Formats: sequence, C-alpha cells, structure tokens
Amino acid sequence: MADGSSETKSSNQMWGGRFASGPDAIMEEINASIGFDKKLYAQDIRGSIAHATMLAHQGIISVEDKDKIVHGLDTILSEIESGVFEFSRRLEDIHMNVEARLAALIGPAAGRLHTARSRNDQVALDFRLWVKEELQRTERALTALIGAFLDRAEEHADTVMPGFTHLQTAQPVTFGHHCLAYVEMFGRDRSRVRHAIEHMDECPIGAAALAGTGFPIDRHMTAKALGFREPTRNSIDTVSDRDFALEFLSIASIAATHLSRLAEEIVIWSTPQFGFIRLSDAFSTGSSIMPQKKNPDAAELVRAKTGRINGSLIALLTVMKGLPLAYSKDMQEDKEQVFDAAESLELAIAAMTGMVRDMTVRADRMKAAAGSGYSTATDLADWLVREAGLPFRDAHHVTGRAVALAEQKGCDLADLSLADLQAINPAITDKVFDVLTVEASVASRTSFGGTAPAEVLKQIAWWRARN
Ligand code: ARG
Repeated sequence: MADGSSETKSSNQMWGGRFASGPDAIMEEINASIGFDKKLYAQDIRGSIAHATMLAHQGIISVEDKDKIVHGLDTILSEIESGVFEFSRRLEDIHMNVEARLAALIGPAAGRLHTARSRNDQVALDFRLWVKEELQRTERALTALIGAFLDRAEEHADTVMPGFTHLQTAQPVTFGHHCLAYVEMFGRDRSRVRHAIEHMDECPIGAAALAGTGFPIDRHMTAKALGFREPTRNSIDTVSDRDFALEFLSIASIAATHLSRLAEEIVIWSTPQFGFIRLSDAFSTGSSIMPQKKNPDAAELVRAKTGRINGSLIALLTVMKGLPLAYSKDMQEDKEQVFDAAESLELAIAAMTGMVRDMTVRADRMKAAAGSGYSTATDLADWLVREAGLPFRDAHHVTGRAVALAEQKGCDLADLSLADLQAINPAITDKVFDVLTVEASVASRTSFGGTAPAEVLKQIAWWRARN
C-alpha cells in the first residue's frame, strides 16, 4: 500500500506543516516506535472507532464521515490481521500508520478523526487497553496454575516430606501443605492483578494533548464504549501517567519472584540427591554428552526470566522519574519493557503450570527424607511439656540431649531405647514413641493453617470455592 497518499519525502504528512525538510535518518530511527507499537493496532482502531462514533453523536463530525471512518478502520483491521498492511517507519508509530492508511482509503474524511484528540491521549488509551487485557490474561493464567497446585495438594494431602528452614530439615510437613503455600502466593498475585484492573479502569481518551478540548465531546460515552468504568479526572495527569504500566511491572516482578522460588525448589527437588520429584520428559531436556542426565531447563529459565522482568520494572521507573508534566517522548520507552515482561511472565506461568501438573511426586523419597535429620525433635519436646509437665525450655534441653545421643549412636530418635530416653529424663514413658513418627507429627498439627492432612483438606476446599 501507499503509506500516505499525500506524504512527501520532505516533510511529515501529520505534523509537517511548519517543517521545510524531513528528518535525518538517525532522527527517524530514534524517533520511530512502529517496530514495537504495532502490537497496539487493535486497541488503536477500537479507540478510534469509539472516538469517531462519539464525535458524530455529538454533532462534531457528520454521520457520513463517521461511517466512512469506521468502514475504513474495519478495512485496516483486516489488512493488518491478514498480513497485507505495510507498516512504514517514516510514519513513526501505529497511530500515524493507521491514520495515513485511512486517508489513502477514504480521502479527506480521514482528516476529521483527529478532531478533539492528540496522540498523547491516544497512546495513553491504546496502551492502557493493552495492559488491561494483559492483566486479564495474567489472571486466567494464575488461575490455571493455582488449579494445578490444588490438584497436586489434594492428591498429596497426607504425603509426608521434610519441612525446611535455612534449607535444614526442620519439621515434617505434608506435600499438600507445601503446595498450598504456593497457592497462597499465586493467590495474592492474582488479587494484586484484580486490584490493578480496578485501579486502572479509567478512560484516557478526551484528555487531548494535555488540557482537554473546547469541542463538546462526551468522555463518559467513549469510556463506556471502551469498557471503562469512567473517564479519568485530570487531563494533565492522564497524558503523563504510566502508573498502570508500573503497576503491571510491579505485580509481574513479585509474581516472577514467586515463580523463581518455585523454580529453585524444583531444581533442588529433581536432583538425584533429593529425588523428591521426577519432571516429565515434556518439561525437561537431556545432555548432549552425559546420557544419564535429565535437566530442569524450563525451571532454570523461569528462574532467569525474573531478572528480565525485574529489569523492566527498574527501567520504566527510571524512565519516569524526574519527567516534568505532562507528556514527554521519554514515555515512548514504556512499551517494550511491558511487552517483554508480559511475554516472559506468560511463558513462565505456563511452563510452571505444565511442570506442576506433570511432575511425578516420589512420596517414598519424601517420606524417607522426612524421617531423617531428627525432624520430630519438636514433637518430643512438646510431649514432655504435655505429658510430663516440663516447662518448654527444659523440654527443649532434654530433647537436645536425646538428639545428641541419637547422633552419637548414628540412629533416629525413634530408634533410641526407652532406657536410653529414661536415662536422660525418667518421666519419659513408652507412650512417647507414638509421637516420634513423621505421620503422627503431621497429624498432630491441626492448628488453623497447619500441616495436618485434615487441615490441608479444609484449606483446599476453601480455595476450590474461590478458584
Ligand atoms: N509514539 C508515541 C509514544 O509512544 C505516541 C505519542 C506521541 N506524542 C507526541 N506528542 N509526539 O509515546
């Protein structure tokens, strides 16, 4: 196609009135955003249709011109979607590419579309629509990940594994309970997403360049047509605000941090030394030299994507700091950060959902590890408090001596004889052995949010009703 029927090499058709010559090649290169903002084509066209419809409704343009504009925009949408549209870097960005093509298609009526509008409110609208849709996609992706964890949690509500602090064996927990920890994390991410959608649900179009417009526009009408709750309330803020992008990147960074912690656990759990899980073939790779290897590449890449996503947040924060009101061209640097972070986050969530859904949980290995490292020492101390009336600090001391003895003998706590234990504290009876197994340990922790299988099942039911 012609990228602007009346465009000359010398100056720009959209704003070239006062320019005698066109831009230097380097100027064109640094200025153009079409290479990445073409991603906003659907939002741009939707916004223009809503704007033109409102202009006609308000009597600012004729219904005939509006019909031509809408028809032309529909044609452009299908040209772009079928891949025949030629984007031009000389036309800078998606807004001017679409408008120039509209002029080529429908003639002078195209020039009426930009009445009571500026690229400043146009880009704020397009980008906000895109981010809102991305947040909705993120919400759905997180729901799928939470669902995968709930399934695994239910299946393994009573599978015992070691719980860690400092990555040292702490107390036995259930794998279901561990899965629910991630459900909580991704659940918080999802509520942050929902809150951000609420927060950004205001329509920028009609703020014009920065000061609003003297044309009798109806911003409530465009807001409604574009699915926003209401129009934004300050035209200066509207064209200089990128909080919605920063909120997306902040949420993405926190979610990526959660994904990275999960990725790290998957890497550890899938080592032969731990052997808690086996990743499916679909989510692992082999080594070109070591035939025995099965590498958790997807988990490692999820862990690494966090760096990119956090980097995008810092990049945009740095772009925005110190910008005077209202619009500055610096803000054109917002999109690539958000697009890159969005792509990385979507991929990371999808890969994690697949890994969690497909991995084989090796309950035998988990249980064996849960019993080692004196993981039921706290249970012994608690028993001494409950059954022998010892103050907890004394019970802690007695238990410490029992652990030292077991360590010296190279056995578990449960393998010490009653005589051994009574030599440390005569109040101990053979009833103590009931609490030294890992199953008894987890079953006893019935406090709200605790690791007992019964409690885990209750929490699963709570989440199921909300997922
Ligand atoms: N491509 C620009 C951006 O992404 C569009 C807005 C340009 N506005 C302007 N006054 N030059 O920010």
